[in-house]
Amino acid sequence: MASEPTTVTITGAGGQIGYALLFRIAAGDMLGEGRPVRLRLLEIPQGLRSAEGAALELQDCAFPLLHGVELSDDPRVAFEGADICLLVGARPRGPGMERADLLAANAGIFGPQGAAIGEVAADDVRVVVVGNPANTNALIAAASASPGVPAHRFTALTRLDHNRAVGQLAEALDARPGDIAGVAIWGNHSATQFPDAAHATVRGEPVIDALATRLGGVEAARAWLDDVFIPRVARRGAEIIEVRGSSSVASAANAAIEHVRDEQRGTGGRTTSAAVVSRGEYGVPEGLVCSFPVVSDGEGYRVVEGLDLDERGRARFEASVAELEAEREAVEALGVL
Ligand code: NAD
Ligand code: LMR
Repeated sequence: MASEPTTVTITGAGGQIGYALLFRIAAGDMLGEGRPVRLRLLEIPQGLRSAEGAALELQDCAFPLLHGVELSDDPRVAFEGADICLLVGARPRGPGMERADLLAANAGIFGPQGAAIGEVAADDVRVVVVGNPANTNALIAAASASPGVPAHRFTALTRLDHNRAVGQLAEALDARPGDIAGVAIWGNHSATQFPDAAHATVRGEPVIDALATRLGGVEAARAWLDDVFIPRVARRGAEIIEVRGSSSVASAANAAIEHVRDEQRGTGGRTTSAAVVSRGEYGVPEGLVCSFPVVSDGEGYRVVEGLDLDERGRARFEASVAELEAEREAVEALGVL
């Protein structure tokens, strides 16, 4: 007998990432073949027409797992009974907008959405924030959902950064992405993030050794990691914007699907990266939504503890955490938290 459909709410569903997400979720890429889904699309009134067009196309795909699509511009309707929420819709930075303005505009979105999730979503709802600034938007949504939903059910997307790091290493080592393990993204989903290959392996061999063999020594390998790999991954979002003329879409949607899939179905012991609510791991102030290496056994992400960070890695991570703290302070100054 078919199981009850899982209700998945997607905000900003009429936008670019929404369009790349909906069809893959309906096809079963996120929750698997055995789990039917009911999609709820939340948009602002100006975005509803585009979401409606996507809903028509979903119908035309006749996906066997899709048990209905509903549209709304009211968060309380869209999040009613939601099991999984992907918060994609966000206010982009406009001309002349300062970072504080961006945080304020997004607080006006993620505060009310978090509050609605706290009031009407399923008891065991899980939420991933994609819309930028993703970590701090997740912090705001989690705070606003309290006490209805525990904060640790909110995460933010750094799987795209993780996948970018894997892609860069695979290319440099002439390997396949599946050969690379143990990569970690630490900190904020921003240019301050620390993409870390110190514990990464390629077909079981430490990446640093494999790089040293190809580049002519450990010093050359370290220099490549510092001067090429880290900035390339950390600024990949900007590179995509420059080359495509708009921000990443298909790779972002793919990462969001993998984030939810692994959280729900488990990572099978493999490490990935996700921004989760800090419980003080690695000295990160409690409550910040910070990217760490994580695993999941299907019951939510758990930080992999006990990894060594060398002095330079620690300094990079701390700089990114300082940025997250500054964002939290800016939001507190707005009276949002
Ligand atoms: P987009 O502009 O194409 O779509 C955004 C959609 O959100 C629009 O349709 C808009 O109407 C809708 N929206 C705005 N406010 C809303 C609200 N209050 N409720 C519901 N919907 C709302 O943008 P996109 O390319 O789809 O990107 C969406 C977000 O994802 C951006 O903030 C972008 O920076 C971010 N992003 C994050 C990552 C990541 O890795 N975390 C990667 C890529 C993009
Ligand atoms: C990305 O990483 O592609 C997005 O967050 C867009 C950006 O501004 O970097």
